[in-house]
Amino acid sequence: MNPESSPFTPGQPVPIEFFVGRVKEIEHLRSMVRASIQGRFKIGYVTGERGIGKSSLVSFVRHLGEREDCIAGVHAFLGGVKNLSDMIRIAYDRLLKESIDKPWYDNVRGFFGDHVRKVGLFGASIELSVTKEDLGVLVNDFVPTLRKLVAHLKDDRKSLLLILDDINGLAESAEFANWLKSTVDQIATENSPLSCCILIVGLEERRQNLIKLQPSLARLFDITEIRPWTDQETAEFYTEAFKRTAALTVDDLALKEMVESTGGLPVFAHEIGDAVWRTAKGVEVTLHEAMKAILDAAEIIGRKFLEPRVFQAIRSKRYRSILRKLAGDQIHNVSFQRAEIRKRLSPEEDKGFGNFLNRMRDLGAIVVDSEAGPGGYRFASRLHLMYFWMESLRASKGGDDT
Ligand SMILES: Nc1ncnc2c1ncn2[C@@H]1O[C@H](COP(=O)(O)OP(=O)(O)O)[C@@H](O)[C@H]1O
Ligand SMILES: [Mg+2]
Repeated sequence: MNPESSPFTPGQPVPIEFFVGRVKEIEHLRSMVRASIQGRFKIGYVTGERGIGKSSLVSFVRHLGEREDCIAGVHAFLGGVKNLSDMIRIAYDRLLKESIDKPWYDNVRGFFGDHVRKVGLFGASIELSVTKEDLGVLVNDFVPTLRKLVAHLKDDRKSLLLILDDINGLAESAEFANWLKSTVDQIATENSPLSCCILIVGLEERRQNLIKLQPSLARLFDITEIRPWTDQETAEFYTEAFKRTAALTVDDLALKEMVESTGGLPVFAHEIGDAVWRTAKGVEVTLHEAMKAILDAAEIIGRKFLEPRVFQAIRSKRYRSILRKLAGDQIHNVSFQRAEIRKRLSPEEDKGFGNFLNRMRDLGAIVVDSEAGPGGYRFASRLHLMYFWMESLRASKGGDDT
């Protein structure tokens, strides 16, 4: 099929009409947004593994809120951000930029006053222009500033949804952890309504890290955990996607194989779907085509999401047969017991197993699972597990190696 007409969007946020599942999570987040409309300040943490759909979910909730509940939203991606003043600058800058085509732009523009600068060719875009001193004030006076901003929006919008996404770098910062705590405390003690909902988005490890830095954060956040899709949701995703194009249907067995290889990870669903789209020759995707596409997708996923050294190691001939036995039956289980796996290995494979585990541990693909007792291990993430699994499929098909 022509790659340009693919209904899949690997590496991009999912278009609203293409969003699948997450009904309960959406309801929960919307209830927080609605509470904020009533003047009750809310702060939540949206947690889940890489590629599970955190950013897509909050983006969906934000659009829904803007359309249905008359709120204003801002979605700030803070991937490389390490300190508070950068965070504040980026969040406000995003608010300004994202409001530009919204009816409440004038309110936001008015709020920032002289601090808005035209940039780019012919001044086509705008930017928040603040000095270091201004930023210091914005950090220290975050709550009063937020109150003012919400008051400014109030004519048009009933609440502000502030999404702080990808807080990786910030989760290492005690300054950020303490700031969060004091912000929430300050709002609580002021005892006056504030129509604002803050959603922090990140991995569970990051939340744990923040709690280590500031233990009272443990009880502060309203948590939304995103789990892998069920097989039914994954099947729905593929079926709907193909239906939309009307150009391609999928054989039942092919669909089953695609669903299984997705492991409930939306990020994989788009890669596998896209690979299937490119591979398909006729009007119905055959099992053979699906299998080929899954291996192609494994290749892409390995290169895109894994450390190059993990990618190399997993594909080396030495580990091929061990990999097949380790990942073969493993598909829904991130954890495993060393002794259990050893039972499946030949004496020859068993000899290399210790070495294999050490190598994968050194590379961070597998970690010791202390909760599972002695000999307990787990894959570093579901993404690693699924990649191992797809590579084991390749190994059993006698695919290429390095
Ligand atoms: N509910 C969903 N429906 C359809 N596609 C989704 C859904 N959630 C995520 N995706 C897709 O999966 C990929 C990863 O999603 P993303 O939101 O970036 O994950 P995360 O932020 O957890 O790393 C994106 O390409 C996105 O389009
Ligand atoms: Mg994300």
